[in-house]
Amino acid sequence: MADDIIAVKPEIAATARIDAAKRAAMVAAEAQDANAFWRGEMGRIAWMKEPTKIKAVDFTGDVSIKWFADGELNASVSCLDRHLAKRGDQVAIIWEGDDPNSDAKVTYRELHARVCKLANAMRRLGVKKGDRVCIYLPMIVEAAVAMLACARVGAIHSIVFGGFSPDSLASRIQDSECSLLITADEGRRGGRKVPLKANADEALLTCPSIRNVIVAKNTGGAVEMMKGRDHWWDAITEGEGTTCEPEKMNAEDPLFILYTSGSTGKPKGVLHTTGGYMVWASFTHENVFDYRDGEIYWCTADVGWVTGHTYIVYGPLANGATTLMFEGVPSWPDNSRFWQVCEKHKVNIFYTAPTAIRALMRDGEAPVKKWDRSTLRILGSVGEPINPEAWLWYYRVVGDERCPIVDTWWQTETGGILISPLPGAVAQKPGSATLPLPGVKPALVDNEGNILEGATEGNLVILDSWPGQMRTIYGDHARFGQTYFSTFKGMYFTGDGARRDADGYYWITGRVDDVINVAGHRMGTAEVESALVAHPAVAEAAVVGMPHDIKGQGIYAYVTLKAGVEPTEPLRKELVAWVRKEIGPIATPDAIQWAPGLPKTRSGKIMRRILRKIAANETEGLGDTSTLADPGVVQELIDNKVG
Ligand code: PRX
Repeated sequence: MADDIIAVKPEIAATARIDAAKRAAMVAAEAQDANAFWRGEMGRIAWMKEPTKIKAVDFTGDVSIKWFADGELNASVSCLDRHLAKRGDQVAIIWEGDDPNSDAKVTYRELHARVCKLANAMRRLGVKKGDRVCIYLPMIVEAAVAMLACARVGAIHSIVFGGFSPDSLASRIQDSECSLLITADEGRRGGRKVPLKANADEALLTCPSIRNVIVAKNTGGAVEMMKGRDHWWDAITEGEGTTCEPEKMNAEDPLFILYTSGSTGKPKGVLHTTGGYMVWASFTHENVFDYRDGEIYWCTADVGWVTGHTYIVYGPLANGATTLMFEGVPSWPDNSRFWQVCEKHKVNIFYTAPTAIRALMRDGEAPVKKWDRSTLRILGSVGEPINPEAWLWYYRVVGDERCPIVDTWWQTETGGILISPLPGAVAQKPGSATLPLPGVKPALVDNEGNILEGATEGNLVILDSWPGQMRTIYGDHARFGQTYFSTFKGMYFTGDGARRDADGYYWITGRVDDVINVAGHRMGTAEVESALVAHPAVAEAAVVGMPHDIKGQGIYAYVTLKAGVEPTEPLRKELVAWVRKEIGPIATPDAIQWAPGLPKTRSGKIMRRILRKIAANETEGLGDTSTLADPGVVQELIDNKVG
């Protein structure tokens, strides 16, 4: 089944922006002269001063990545101003609320005015170019307005997903010393309220850099407002004008920071700059989704993740698209919500995560089939490997075997899609992200960094830069080089493993580091471990990913309690709740196993390979355990495996 090939249908190739011949020509042109190729693509965004320099990249030494370095622009102008003449009255954002009876449409002209009002208010509060602004908002139009208002005044936004805890919010604000926080009274998800302002108040107890808080009224729930610090959005923007001079930004000035998890330490602030990111967002959104004027495009991600940044806001708006923003969840009020929204808003392009597909698949075809999906043209998948079974269900049941599926592989660090089929050019294989986009040069290397040829499996690296690549880790350029360019010298290491088949197709097999991917949410096992050991009853903890039917991976924690503490069911529940509170509900452990000891080498290093295998029930072939300090603990853990 995994070897099925779904050829590009002739009628799709005939009308697509890019067919196989055009793709081949693009790949060849980029390979021959990258500078000329990207000079040809840079006009897809609006420049105040056109760049004369295109690519200046060095993956060695201190690592320096620059694109369009002498160009000047403002990202909000590309997303708003330049569309006003032609599409001022076109809908830019369709907002669909958590409550199926609430929705809204915002035209480009209205969005421009709202962005300018907020930008003016921000300037009045003293926000200047280069300042960091934290955004902690639910999926409401204000989230897009806040992002673009930051871009307007040259402030660097740092969005924190609304599901993160006060602690997680605080550490992100502290790391980049944000001076302004933009939040809402409450969020809504699946019929429940999320106390955003209350969480923010708790976080701000340890965030002295924050001078002002702007609060959007969303649910109308009661919140505390601190005089002098907290301002209602409506009040502070009320008297402001609907135009605002955009700050002139250099192409390499930062646009945003987004925190993401790595194998060690605290989440790192991935920094993206303005020119290259915007070109990449526009290029990939238009070509991967084969976007056409007037189409309704829906990406179900949250703006708190990179997918929301690039494929709800910057890419679609740069391309003058109508982008749908959804506040709710796929399972509420019932499990047909996605398809009901597709019918209601006549969605043409639909982009979601495998975890949602797997969850909906359980309920069979009826909830899908009862809604009209005839407007759908392209389906997309992102965030984790999609298993062939889920792929085929998506293709057959949701897309009626009519819509190509683009399985898009990329990362927070890559800014946009790197490996994906182009719907009119590349035959699909269920479960494979297929081929790199023009200009992207993946390779597989062995653990010593030797490049492997042909059909093989290895560590996925990218050999050369593309415009949307991250430029640094905020405040820690040394860690940037260390994290991404030192494992395999002179290559960008993705942290993923992959297989390449005889057709050159890539099959991403998952992370090869200590990062796990739970329902498409990326998490460092070290973060969950440090949350656990912060509990007074816990002496030591080791966290690994375990296979999970719906979520792809679940969180499996081995916990050693302090001497004298009894391992009880109430304590297990308490620890689960503790991690949720420390990090957020996305980090809820799926299993906690009491571990009187952990398998360690004689030098004290935890053997995670063994723990991963036990959690996955792969206890045959555990490999050599004779070097362990206490080989007996392994059998003990196997015998008491949870679930
Ligand atoms: O392991 C890969 C997986 O998600 C990781 C990146 O996570 P994040 O930075 O949160 O960005 C997610 C949205 C782009 C990757 O290292 N991943 C992402 N897309 C795919 C994928 N794995 C397999 N197939 C994909 N299409």
